[in-house]
Amino acid sequence: MAESLRLGRQRTGLLQSGAPNLPQWSARVAKPKIAYVCTECGGSSSKWQGQCPDCGAWNTLVEFAGAPASAGARGRAGYAGGSGSAVVTRLDQVPQGVEARTEVGIGELDRVLGGGLVEGSVVLIGGDPGIGKSTLLLQTLGSLGSRLPGLYVTGEESLGQVANRASRLGLSLPGLHCLTETCVERIVQHLAKEKPKLAVIDSIQTIYSEQLPAAPGSVSQVRESAARLVRHAKEQGTSIFLVGHVTKEGGIAGPRVLEHMVDAVLYFEGESGSRFRVLRAFKNRFGAVNELGVFAMGDRGLREVPNPSAMFLSGTLSQTPGSIVMVTREGTRPLLVEVQALVDQSSLSNPRRVSLGLEQNRLAMLLAVLHRHGGLAVFDQDVFVNVVGGIRVQETAADLPVLLAVLSSYRDRPLAEKTVSFGEVGLSGEIRPVPNGEERLREAASHGFRRAIVPKANLPRKGSIKDMEIIGVERLVQALEAAD
Ligand code: TYD
Ligand code: MG
Repeated sequence: MAESLRLGRQRTGLLQSGAPNLPQWSARVAKPKIAYVCTECGGSSSKWQGQCPDCGAWNTLVEFAGAPASAGARGRAGYAGGSGSAVVTRLDQVPQGVEARTEVGIGELDRVLGGGLVEGSVVLIGGDPGIGKSTLLLQTLGSLGSRLPGLYVTGEESLGQVANRASRLGLSLPGLHCLTETCVERIVQHLAKEKPKLAVIDSIQTIYSEQLPAAPGSVSQVRESAARLVRHAKEQGTSIFLVGHVTKEGGIAGPRVLEHMVDAVLYFEGESGSRFRVLRAFKNRFGAVNELGVFAMGDRGLREVPNPSAMFLSGTLSQTPGSIVMVTREGTRPLLVEVQALVDQSSLSNPRRVSLGLEQNRLAMLLAVLHRHGGLAVFDQDVFVNVVGGIRVQETAADLPVLLAVLSSYRDRPLAEKTVSFGEVGLSGEIRPVPNGEERLREAASHGFRRAIVPKANLPRKGSIKDMEIIGVERLVQALEAAD
C-alpha cells in the first residue's frame, strides 16, 4: 500500500511541477476550477469562508481542486440510465425489475440489510477502529463463497495479514480473492476484468484517484473515489461494501455526501471492553432503518446473537439504586436494556450532565421536566446516565426509565425488584405512549419481570398480562409515586 501511495504522490507531484513546462497541454486543458467543499453537507462555494454558506457549520470548507465540476454530474447521469438522452416516462409503464437479493448467510447481517444483499447496491459500513468491520466483511465473503464470487480490496493491511485472519476465522482460503490496491482507477480496472459479484473496499479513506492532486483521505479524494465505485456498481451490477472510518464525533470521516451516494449506511457500535457488537442500519434504500444486528466477538471472529433481548442486562441479581431495566424497540425486535443513573452532589458551579448511549440534550430537557413537574430539583447535582453494554438508545421510550433511575439514585433507594419501564415524557409532564406497548410488556414478562410502569395508553387492551402488575401512568408525578 505504501508503495502505491508513494507512487500516487509522485505522479501528482509531477503533474503539478510539470504543468508549466507543457504549454501545449495547458493551453488545451481548461484551468482546473478550484472549489471549496463543505465536509459536513457537501455544499460547494467558489471562495473559502469560515462558515459554510449552506449548512452554517464552521471551519468545514476544504479545497476541492482538480475535479471538473461536471464529473459528479456525469456520473449521476450515467447510472440514472442514459447520458443526455433521457426521456420522460410514465411510472406505470416502467417494467418493475425484481430486486435480486442474495442472502449472505449471516442472519444478523441479512436482517440489517433488509433481507439480503441487493445486486448492484453500495453499502457503507462505519465504526470505530478495531470494532470488527474487516472481520465482518471477510466473514461475509467467506459465507457467500462461490454463491457470490467476491474480491476483498484492502488498502490498510497486507495480504499476509488478511490471509492470517481468514485462516483464524476458519474461512476457506481458495475461495477468497484479495487485492492490495489503493488507486481507484486500477481497482475499477480489476473489477471490470475479474467481474466479481461482490467487492469489499477496506477502506474508502485509503483510496485515491490519480486524477486529483489531493492526498488520500481528503474530502475530494474520498468523494471522487466513492463516486467512481458507485458508478461501477450501478453499471455492472456488482455489489460493493465500503468500509468508512469514523471521526471522533461518530460520523463517517469525509464528506457527508458519501452517505447520500450509497444505498445503505450501516454503523458498527459497541464498547471496546464489551464483546458485544451492534450493527445498525442508519439509511437503507432496500429495507427498514434502525434495524439492529447483534454479534459477539470471540476468538473465531464475530458470532451472531440471534436472540439478544436479554443480553444488555447487567446480570446482577440484587437491585441497586439508580438502575432500571427498560424495554426499547430497535428495528423490529424488543430489547431489554439496563439504564443506570448516578446523581451526586456537585462541587461545580455548573453541574455536569453526562449521558452515554442517550442524547445529551434530551437528558437536560428531562431534568428540567423533573424539576418543574415532578418537584425534584437536581440543579446542584452532577447527573450521569449510562446505558449498559455500549448500546445507543435513540427512541423517546427511554425518557421515563431515565427519570426513574435518576429519582432512585437521588433518593439512594432501589426500585422494586423485577420492574421494567418505558414511555415518553412530554414537556408539560405528561407521559406519552410509545409504539408496540403490548409487545414490549410481553417480552419483559417472558424474561421474568413482574412489575411495569408504563404510559396509561400503552396498557394492554385485552385484560392483563399473566403474572405482571402493570401500572399505567398519565402524569410524571404518578410515575414517581408508583416508583417510590
Ligand atoms: P477488525 O475487523 O480488524 O476491526 P476494524 O476493521 O473495524 O478496524 O477487528 C479487529 C479486532 O477484533 C481486534 O481488536 C481483534 C478482534 N478480533 C477478535 O477478537 N477475534 C477474532 O477472531 C478476530 C478476527 C478479531
Ligand atoms: Mg479494518
